[in-house]
Amino acid sequence: MTRIAVLISGGGSNMVALVRAMQAGGWAEPVLVLANDPDAGGLEKARSMGVPIAAVDHRDFKGDRPAFEKALSDALATAQPDILCLAGFMRVLTADFVAQWAGRMLNIHPSLLPKYKGLQTHARALDAGDLQHGCTVHEVTSELDDGPILGQATLDVAPDDTPETLATRVLPLEHALYPRVLERFVAGDKTLLSLRDVNVD
Ligand code: GAR
Repeated sequence: MTRIAVLISGGGSNMVALVRAMQAGGWAEPVLVLANDPDAGGLEKARSMGVPIAAVDHRDFKGDRPAFEKALSDALATAQPDILCLAGFMRVLTADFVAQWAGRMLNIHPSLLPKYKGLQTHARALDAGDLQHGCTVHEVTSELDDGPILGQATLDVAPDDTPETLATRVLPLEHALYPRVLERFVAGDKTLLSLRDVNVD
């Protein structure tokens, strides 16, 4: 069975959606949830779902990214994943690390890429007057928030939306999109999945 590691930095709601879908569907095995912060709330959630957890605190490496990534790689080596899923993992990875996982690493980003790479995506969509907004799952390449797009979920921006309401409305779309894209990816399907008006949790 395909082995999946999920990398998180915070609450890990996307990780929970991925693990639930794998455990319910049996199409892949979550073998590790790895955080760059030992206090990441998602670690306890993963543990309670029976998934092995590990943390590599990036602050211990004082900006030495290769050393941080060596520690990440050591943690991953124990779990032997086939695919890495970045799920709210807020550290930028070096080109070397990305190259080691070329074609085997996915990310979810809270915008309709190629729009709004980086941070503050919801505020930037509002500032631009966008009528539609959403989230994207893509393959990770060495360019930040770039790489082939595998799936997008879209919603209509409401006149009274704020960055906070958009974040709240986009997150369930992320939870619907990411597991579906991962399941297809595991099966070798890299064609674009577009979700609109999905029933979300
Ligand atoms: C999600 O909205 C995810 O798209 C975003 O962080 C949040 C993590 O939430 N990721 C990025 O902004 C990556 N650049 P979660 O920890 O509850 O899954």
